[in-house]
Amino acid sequence: THQWRGIIEEYRDRLPVTDTTPVVTLREGGTPLVPAQVLSERTGCEVHLKVEGANPTGSFKDRGMTMAISKAKEEGAQAVICASTGNTSASAAAYAVRAGMVSAVLVPQGKIALGKMGQALVHGAKILQVDGNFDDCLDLARALSDNYPVALVNSVNPVRIEGQKTAAFEIVDMLGDAPDIHVLPVGNAGNITAYWRGYKEYAADGLAARTPRMWGFQASGSAPLVRGEVVKDPSTIATAIRIGNPASWDYAIAARDESGGFIDEVTDREILRAYRLLASQEGVFVEPASAASVAGLLKAAEQGKVDPGQRIVCTVTGNGLKDPDWAVAGAPQPVTVPVDAATAAERLGLA
Ligand code: F0G
Repeated sequence: THQWRGIIEEYRDRLPVTDTTPVVTLREGGTPLVPAQVLSERTGCEVHLKVEGANPTGSFKDRGMTMAISKAKEEGAQAVICASTGNTSASAAAYAVRAGMVSAVLVPQGKIALGKMGQALVHGAKILQVDGNFDDCLDLARALSDNYPVALVNSVNPVRIEGQKTAAFEIVDMLGDAPDIHVLPVGNAGNITAYWRGYKEYAADGLAARTPRMWGFQASGSAPLVRGEVVKDPSTIATAIRIGNPASWDYAIAARDESGGFIDEVTDREILRAYRLLASQEGVFVEPASAASVAGLLKAAEQGKVDPGQRIVCTVTGNGLKDPDWAVAGAPQPVTVPVDAATAAERLGLA
């Protein structure tokens, strides 16, 4: 029997590795591409969800991290560092364990989801909560990696983008061609950069007949790419994308313009509506930031920007279990019953 080998072995010839690169993997990638029935009906399109929460640490970050940690190990690094809104740190911590390395993570104090903090802790990362936002954490991580013996594994490390581009390969391999439109949440803008690179590479090599239009969505309170200027004090309930000065700014704008796409914003309310729709209508539980892609698609459809009949892929970037507060908040409390079938049946509305 065969299992998926992880993105480095599956796409080795398209990644900057050699026969001597130690492959540090948790068999990431190979994630489900799930047809989205309700979203398809609402838009008149063929909508698929690329469910990246199915990766080993529960987010798309694992694709980049298998590359970053493998290359860091190849170069002899003994410690890695990252700034994170939570998912990168969870991934770095897990892959550092596999590599026998020390991981250090810098997170904005009070602004990362509990599940992600738990992951970094249980994997034994050295965690510093920084009195600042993600952008401050990234500045600090850069300064530390410039001046101390520790390798930076944020997406400013180019091999991270290389790893993450494999998600686009998987989609084309599955669908037989690129979709018409690809929709993503955008924070630090590494992922939109990576997908665009992947799609372009496949098209250039004749493995896809076309490239998609790239549609990116930021949270309204953290939408520097939409505003065209740095947001000093970013805010949103979608903590994963609470970023005011994206590192891959220019690449994201290039992805937008070269593909004929756009980058827009969605409100927290729209994000939460999409979050609940995904869970209650499609059976896919994602974290709030991930729902920004779907919120954006629904907004665009309401604005008449979505011509029917197109094939659309929305990436949902992280698992809902990382940040379950929003699932519980506002939901009715479950009632308590005795061990009694008649009462249970009555409460369930069966009798
Ligand atoms: N969705 C989730 C769940 C994320 O964790 C992130 C980024 C994004 C979307 C945005 O992706 O930054 O490539 O544009 N999380 C980073 C982190 C910042 O530290 O985990 P991007």
